[in-house]
Amino acid sequence: MKIDILTLFPEMFAPLYESIIGRAQKAGKVEIKLHDIREYSLNKHKKCDDYPFGGGAGMVMMPQPVFDAINAVDPDHKAKRIYTSPRGKTLSQTMVKDLATRENLLILCGHYEGLDERIIELCIDEEVSIGDYVLTGGELPAMVMVDSVCRYVDGVIAKESLSEESFSEGLLEYPQYTRPQEFMGLKVPEVLTSGNHAEVDKWRKEKSLELTKKYRPDLLEK
Ligand code: ADE
Repeated sequence: MKIDILTLFPEMFAPLYESIIGRAQKAGKVEIKLHDIREYSLNKHKKCDDYPFGGGAGMVMMPQPVFDAINAVDPDHKAKRIYTSPRGKTLSQTMVKDLATRENLLILCGHYEGLDERIIELCIDEEVSIGDYVLTGGELPAMVMVDSVCRYVDGVIAKESLSEESFSEGLLEYPQYTRPQEFMGLKVPEVLTSGNHAEVDKWRKEKSLELTKKYRPDLLEK
């Protein structure tokens, strides 16, 4: 899978070179390319923002540098083009799985008060939000998307991890324990050390249901 990220702040993406996503990149499972929108500005000061028509607070990302960047990076519109925006559809595990089936993704990160609307009309396939709150820019949402999507790319993490995690069956994941068997007076549930796999499975299913009822009853209503 190839993911192109268009941003005014490429330095913000250092976390994608660490841990699991960093290893996946080194192993060639995913290719993540950062593109600095500023480099496409035809303005002699590399300006990329301007005042909003009609007045109001803040600045708006100018169309020219963004339009040229998108067309240079994805000239044949092979990629699914996403714009990170609080007004977009809220990212869900179902959307993540769907995005992971694509060969090419392009993520455009918004910044300032927003982006000239004409870019969305001309170039963007889908607007995606990561929740009902407003961030200073789309860089963190882009990283959230890349991280959640890359987990589904073959060879990035173990297949079993994907089938037994929260949301995979519409339920939250069961609790996990590791050594020692007793910590600060609290013991690991006996069934987990019994060696009886059927009983372990049964306990985990019950706990998944119990935790979902407690923390996310809305998931059971769906
Ligand atoms: N940009 C600012 N806030 C955002 C959000 N919640 N989701 C996606 N992009 C954003």
